[in-house]
Amino acid sequence: MANEPKVRLRGLFKIFGPKDKEVLQHVKEGMGKEDLLEQHQHVLGLQDINVDMQAGEITVVMGLSGSGKSTLIRHLNRLIEPTAGEILVDGVDVMKLSETELREVRQTKMSMVFQKFALLPHRTVQQNAAMALKVRGSDEETQNTEARKWLARVGLQGYEDRYPAQLSGGMQQRVGIARALTANTDIMLMDEAFSALDPLIRTDMQNLLLELQDELQKTIVFITHDLDEALKLADHLVILKDGAVVQQGEPQGILMNPCDPYIEDFVSDINRARVLRVKSVMAPLKGTEFAGDVDIGDNLESLIARSEGDTTLHYRVMEGDTPVGELHMRDLVKALVPRLSSTEAAE
Ligand SMILES: Nc1ncnc2c1ncn2[C@@H]1O[C@H](COP(=O)(O)OP(=O)(O)O)[C@@H](O)[C@H]1O
Ligand SMILES: [Mg+2]
Repeated sequence: MANEPKVRLRGLFKIFGPKDKEVLQHVKEGMGKEDLLEQHQHVLGLQDINVDMQAGEITVVMGLSGSGKSTLIRHLNRLIEPTAGEILVDGVDVMKLSETELREVRQTKMSMVFQKFALLPHRTVQQNAAMALKVRGSDEETQNTEARKWLARVGLQGYEDRYPAQLSGGMQQRVGIARALTANTDIMLMDEAFSALDPLIRTDMQNLLLELQDELQKTIVFITHDLDEALKLADHLVILKDGAVVQQGEPQGILMNPCDPYIEDFVSDINRARVLRVKSVMAPLKGTEFAGDVDIGDNLESLIARSEGDTTLHYRVMEGDTPVGELHMRDLVKALVPRLSSTEAAE
């Protein structure tokens, strides 16, 4: 990719414990999390993380509880000091910043949306939304206009003078998002931001985030332990296990080509028809006779419905007004079956 990534993590290691730098060598030589704990009483948080996050994209970091997701995201604004490695934001190593420069980066480049909303209970919705601008010393007028604008954008017009406790969880998280947007930063860090919400509300919030992202093209780092959420939101998906990246890439690619039995397991239960898109299954354009046109972004489920299950059909694939490929229903059917894991296949 020609563009400089917005955020780069390079060779990042985090070990929790007083002698982290001394025991690092063991980890570099291959010692795992369990042995490090048993033999050296240190906790392996992250090992050799190399991730590029592109501007304007949603990078989702997914993994089970304890896999190191929060540890990873907290390195970006240096709430956690790495044991080794580089954290580059806009090409600048945040490890080399002075206190003042670091504060500047935290206030103007990154905003956070938290799982537990973290709203101030004795401040109104509007005051909460304006928080970052107030801290930065913007005048009252700017604070009010900006906060009202973003509250309205997330669907909270008319609630400006309420207090957080008077709102439902979903609405409180809308305030959390409005607060991040009012801060007007390029980067938004979201650590399990939707995990505390009921499923239907959660879906609403995901849709809201995608809508906003369409308009605003922020660089978003979104943490989740939920694969469906990850697949819905991610431009770039990073899967963590025991503090290491097991696989990363475009989510459709990971589904089609899981690199490791752990990932195969992880993705084996999802509804592939709903998640996979025409783009991942289409072939180069050769034919001339088609049953109709489909969009490159359509999911496979919609095509199964449309073809009424007829596996002999071929569709022309369009990207906007341009024909870009063709889709054979029989290829689609093949893609619905997860690749057998190497172990299973060998049995
Ligand atoms: N301050 C800390 N001291 C010691 N161990 C920690 C600390 N913070 C996190 N850990 C450990 O690091 C690992 C990763 O934790 P975390 O990043 O919170 O995982 P996740 O967010 O994926 O659930 C876990 O084993 C956790 O117990
Ligand atoms: Mg966490």
